[in-house]
Amino acid sequence: APSSPVSLTVNGRPRTVTVDNRTSLLDLLREHFGLTGSKKGCNAGACGACTVLVDGRRVNSCLTLAVRLEGAEVTTIEGLADGDQLHPLQQAFIDEDAFQCGYCTPGQIVSGVGCIREGHTGSPEEIREWMSGNICRCGCYVKIVRAVQQTAG
Ligand code: FES
Repeated sequence: APSSPVSLTVNGRPRTVTVDNRTSLLDLLREHFGLTGSKKGCNAGACGACTVLVDGRRVNSCLTLAVRLEGAEVTTIEGLADGDQLHPLQQAFIDEDAFQCGYCTPGQIVSGVGCIREGHTGSPEEIREWMSGNICRCGCYVKIVRAVQQTAG
């Protein structure tokens, strides 16, 4: 299959790789870069476990072709903390006990960061609506929304 070179920035680090043109951003992150925080739930755009930020916007990395990301800035769950200092939303998830099995959590947190940046945090209902692409099979939605709302301030 044809492959192409692509240069992008991942969590502040410039990266250049040659990948099969069909490779998803999710597989690029997990298999080429060893960044396994982004999870493969459905691999079809339906669960949000693979959510990352591309140029500050939330995307399902399972649906995003890596070769399309020339020059893009990608932020994953691994890129949110500042050294030993957790991102405020990461801390809020701990404080609010906003997870059970944890599989959806990286996607929830990255999506929550996007939701806060976009300003969709006026009410619990608004947060729930704007994070509706992130499914939690354990049903932690109330606590997830509370963590996002608390972080948004
Ligand atoms: Fe990408 Fe489910 S793994 S949306």
